[in-house]
Amino acid sequence: MLTFILCTCQLLSWMSTHVELSNGIKMPVLGLGTWLSKPEEVEDAVRNAIDVGYRLIDTAACYGNEAEIGKVLKEYFEEGKLKREDIFITTKLWCTHLHPNEIEAELRESLKKLQLDYVDLYLVHMPTAFSSDMSAQDHSVKVEDTWKGVEEAYKKGLARSIGVSNFSADQIHRIQKIASVPIHNNQVELHLYFPQFELQEVCNQYKISLTAYAPLGSPGRVNFNLVNWEKSPNPLENDVVLKLAQKYHKTPAQILLRHLIQRKIAVIPKSVNASRIKENFEVFDFSLTVEEINELNSVPRGKRLFKQEFLIGHPEDPMKDER
Ligand SMILES: NC(=O)c1ccc[n+]([C@@H]2O[C@H](COP(=O)([O-])OP(=O)(O)OC[C@H]3O[C@@H](n4cnc5c(N)ncnc54)[C@H](OP(=O)(O)O)[C@@H]3O)[C@@H](O)[C@H]2O)c1
Repeated sequence: MLTFILCTCQLLSWMSTHVELSNGIKMPVLGLGTWLSKPEEVEDAVRNAIDVGYRLIDTAACYGNEAEIGKVLKEYFEEGKLKREDIFITTKLWCTHLHPNEIEAELRESLKKLQLDYVDLYLVHMPTAFSSDMSAQDHSVKVEDTWKGVEEAYKKGLARSIGVSNFSADQIHRIQKIASVPIHNNQVELHLYFPQFELQEVCNQYKISLTAYAPLGSPGRVNFNLVNWEKSPNPLENDVVLKLAQKYHKTPAQILLRHLIQRKIAVIPKSVNASRIKENFEVFDFSLTVEEINELNSVPRGKRLFKQEFLIGHPEDPMKDER
């Protein structure tokens, strides 16, 4: 009886901290985002995150910080503070290398920087191919072509799971139709004002796990000055969020993250600040009620923040129907 109770408790605590991908791989439901984390900041951010319990780091070839993340991982492995199998590393293939025959080399390049033999999740960052210097759109590659190359890398064991990011529902259907390895994860903009309920249904249909980028509404995006960001309301200041923060003695960020985790969506909040990194991880010691989840789900929707206007005119522009 005692063993049964202990096993049930273990299962319940595991269920709240991980999601299971369709190939059986367990992915932490909360990780550290690193977009706009400068190389000189990211090392300490990753150290702080691992020290407080994070077991997922999200990076990308185009973030320019894989080497610094790899340096910290090596340090932790060598010091015996962490085993490779205890940490989940996600990286992404940038749009300059979407031809199927370029993908393995590009993933190997990321692995070299990360000083790893494999990543836990490899995502196609965008569905739209570009020339190697990003100066021109390349209309010759379809998402199905790219997926074939990603599947090959998976079959060689270079990635334990594979997925997509910034793809439309239609592109997901197209890939699933031709895939020999299905999509394991889909990473998209998703937060209080952009809840992606319809896309979540499509993903559920295929047992594709969903990861929310910008889960706090990406307040730091304005530092990326290649984009002319539209002004939009800040989810961290929403009245329902503030009310629940007061009720649970939690911060608005913790309410926003908890809400998405209870919607069974993985979250990867970015921070380079030690106290905010810790704060964002302290979301497993309370639960919102069904009524509160419904109240948060009913907050009026806002506009997409990441409009990716550089994709306009591309046949694989995932947002062409909403422009
Ligand atoms: N696949 C894609 O195309 C894509 C696109 C965007 C992002 N992503 C991934 O998703 C991650 C998260 O998205 P994001 O970085 O855009 O947005 P986010 O995680 O919603 O917000 C990060 C911003 O919020 C601040 N912040 C962090 N914790 C906070 C807290 N507790 N209270 C108040 N402010 C807080 C951070 O500043 P400090 O650092 O100063 O704390 C940073 O400016 C990225 O880092 C990246 O890994 C993927």
